[in-house]
Amino acid sequence: MREQLEKLKNETLTSIKSAGNVELLQDIRVRMLGRKGELTALMKGLGALSADERPIVGQLVNNVRDEIESALEAALAAAREQVKAERLKSERIDVTLPGRHAASGSKHPVSLIIEEVCEIFAGLGFAVAEGPEIEHDWYNFEALNFPPEHPARDMQDTFFVENNLLLRTHTSPVQIRTMLKQKPPLRIIAPGTVYRCDSDATHSPMFHQIEGLMVDSGITFGDLKGILTVFTNQLFGQKTGVRLRPSFFPFTEPSAEVDIACVICGGKGCRVCKNSGWLEILGAGMVDPEVYRHVNYDAENISGFAFGMGIERIAMLKYGINDMRLLFENDVRFLRQF
Ligand code: FA5
Ligand code: MG
Repeated sequence: MREQLEKLKNETLTSIKSAGNVELLQDIRVRMLGRKGELTALMKGLGALSADERPIVGQLVNNVRDEIESALEAALAAAREQVKAERLKSERIDVTLPGRHAASGSKHPVSLIIEEVCEIFAGLGFAVAEGPEIEHDWYNFEALNFPPEHPARDMQDTFFVENNLLLRTHTSPVQIRTMLKQKPPLRIIAPGTVYRCDSDATHSPMFHQIEGLMVDSGITFGDLKGILTVFTNQLFGQKTGVRLRPSFFPFTEPSAEVDIACVICGGKGCRVCKNSGWLEILGAGMVDPEVYRHVNYDAENISGFAFGMGIERIAMLKYGINDMRLLFENDVRFLRQF
């Protein structure tokens, strides 16, 4: 029995040494010391021994059990320690590393200008109106006094869709849609996307305009000039040069184009202003009585003005951008500057 115990002890201690992980050590504990374990079985067998032998062998068995138990404890503690060390190593976090930034977008310069212009005109009592981008020839041209086959239609190179539908070439059809729905007095601005078969450093096939329309009794060209002066002063600052040039639009009479001194070259002349020192930002004029006839307004008792500005041109002037195409390439290094 003594030998049997000694053998069992040595075997167990050897397997404890080579176990190396928590699960195997737990198995050994169950196999030896569990309720049906080998050592437990030996202890149960003590009853069969004589009264002389029982205490001696009992003592031996106890010693072996204590030794196995403490070897198990030590090996388990070491194995747990190792598991913990490995976990700490694999889950190591360097809290001094800089964080990853969530990419945040910014508003496009065209949107910024639309917001700013709308805000200035809101302050002057103008409400925002809208119309469709795919427009009827009648709203885009005919009601604005461009008769069919009239050469003035060539002022705007049109993308036709089908039959009498086209991509609106300007925001002026919103004037017609608004006047058909509302009676004077009215004061609206209409921001929107427009399309023309046109492309170079100052022309884009898709661009944005803001239309303005004010109709009431007794509105004069002086009111138009006053409103536009207040507007350009607020948008560009008091010192920016502004000039009105006589011009022609079928739907206004008299008509003017408004230029701003080129801020790229300071008025000296450059590629952007085509060496004139000025950049056209909008067309304007007094609403032609022929337009009132199309929307059933009484041209005898009311008058009004309209204007339409190019947003990209204004963005170029305001932010000193020298090529309109930059606004549509959407290079984030460019867009982040606004
Ligand atoms: C018009 O479109 C008229 N509807 C404006 C108007 C409204 C006049 C109300 C009178 C009364 P025009 O074609 O000139 O006019 O265009 C107006 C502005 O749009 C121009 O001053 C310019 O700033 C801008 N623009 C014109 N073509 C382009 C283009 N291809 N790309 C970018 N901006 C353009
Ligand atoms: Mg023009």
